[in-house]
Amino acid sequence: MKETTPIDEKQINAAPLKSFFVSMLTRDIDLEDSILDLLDNCVDGILRSRPDEGNQPYYGYKAEIRLEKDLFLISDNCGGIPWNLHKYAFRMGRDPERQSDAPGLVGYYGIGMKRAIFKMGRNCSISTKNINHQYQVEITQDWLQDEYTWDLPVKNINWKGKDGTIIKITNLYSNISKQFEENSKKFTANLERIISTHYAIIIEKGFEIKINNQIVVPRTTKLVFDSHQLEQTGIRPFIFKTITSDNVDVFLAVGFWRPPPSENEINEEKESTKYSSMDAGWTIVCNDRVVVFCDRSELTGWGEAGVPRFHNQFIAISGVVEFRSKDPGKLPTKTTKRGLDSSAPIYLQVKNKMREGMKIFTDYTNKWKGREDESKKQISKGENLPLREIRQKSEKLSMNTTSRTVIPGEQYRPNLPKPELPESTARRISFVKENIKIKKVAAYFGDSSLDPSDVGEKCFDLVYQEAK
Ligand SMILES: Nc1ncnc2c1ncn2[C@@H]1O[C@H](COP(=O)(O)OP(=O)(O)O)[C@@H](O)[C@H]1O
Ligand SMILES: [Mg+2]
Repeated sequence: MKETTPIDEKQINAAPLKSFFVSMLTRDIDLEDSILDLLDNCVDGILRSRPDEGNQPYYGYKAEIRLEKDLFLISDNCGGIPWNLHKYAFRMGRDPERQSDAPGLVGYYGIGMKRAIFKMGRNCSISTKNINHQYQVEITQDWLQDEYTWDLPVKNINWKGKDGTIIKITNLYSNISKQFEENSKKFTANLERIISTHYAIIIEKGFEIKINNQIVVPRTTKLVFDSHQLEQTGIRPFIFKTITSDNVDVFLAVGFWRPPPSENEINEEKESTKYSSMDAGWTIVCNDRVVVFCDRSELTGWGEAGVPRFHNQFIAISGVVEFRSKDPGKLPTKTTKRGLDSSAPIYLQVKNKMREGMKIFTDYTNKWKGREDESKKQISKGENLPLREIRQKSEKLSMNTTSRTVIPGEQYRPNLPKPELPESTARRISFVKENIKIKKVAAYFGDSSLDPSDVGEKCFDLVYQEAK
């Protein structure tokens, strides 16, 4: 047997290495998503500092993003990072002792800001002013390379202007720098597209976001609403609203945002870019943040339980569901990332209503197939309204209470125009009878081997002669 050497240590070091932490943290997040984390922080800042919620709760608040070859900068006037948050704002992870400091905040895991910084570059300064504190925290390459020191330098600064925050990242990683370079418009365009959809509601309610000096224009769903003679048939959305026992406010509207396309238009649009930027499908919003944009899959009920699969003939159909709650935990969102928790009970219940509403419009599309000129005329009688106005209009509609369905609430089922069938149109009649009876009638007609459908037809012809 070999001699062994006894160890003297009573403890061994199991502290995480900083480099490991940093690389793990940034691995699974897209650059775009990590930039959205920074915007989420701005919105959290607004929620923390704004006096009260009005119609335009984000009005006057701004965030500006600058992307350059060796600079990422985001500056905002959203209230700054309160000094009393410094104990966890700059740490990685959530302090279990910490209470949520304002209702409706999205930040929860305590990593968004740090993750975004580590993802992009090796140097960063965070300058901020909140009420009576103005300070700057710095992260340097030396700090990143020092595996054991976790303290960050902080100093007082002189802040000019409204309370806010500036995060400036330099010494960018080369893959990031490439995407920000001025001649690479691709990344900027994509980021703009994502922001214009994810923050559409917040921008509409007053928040201003700029990327390299360009204002981001929100992309919101607008549904056709015919305001004439509300009791009559007309193109209007299906609407459902409720407040659940959990106090989650739900508002759903689905309808047409344009006339259904004819066969020719479908083929033409396939080739044009107009087609790819279409606004068909479901958008889902939780506390003003868009978590799903224009989805056309089973996630939102397409191709499920009697609803046809999405097909280009349905590009005219679009719907929105808004969930709102003071307690974000009650919303059907994934906590770690922007996204829908499609198995949340509240979502599954509402999904029944989404399908119910959607079917009205797929049925209409099918019924008017080949007669799109007429449906175009009907749709042109209405105007495209944003959700906010549809909500107001819904006050004027006679809503039905649906207490016995899967989710109680109030709903409006539009009465869409039905095509009148010309007298000469052939229509199918079908019914089921017991075999023994069919045989008996067949024998009565003199041929017991007749097909059931022939038997039925002969019955009809016979009675028709009488009726004439
Ligand atoms: N621009 C900002 N304005 C106001 N508060 C901010 C800003 N950036 C970060 N914060 C705050 O700093 C803290 C740390 O942010 P973050 O790392 O994203 O973690 P969290 O998951 O808590 O949001 C949070 O409380 C966040 O609200
Ligand atoms: Mg955050």
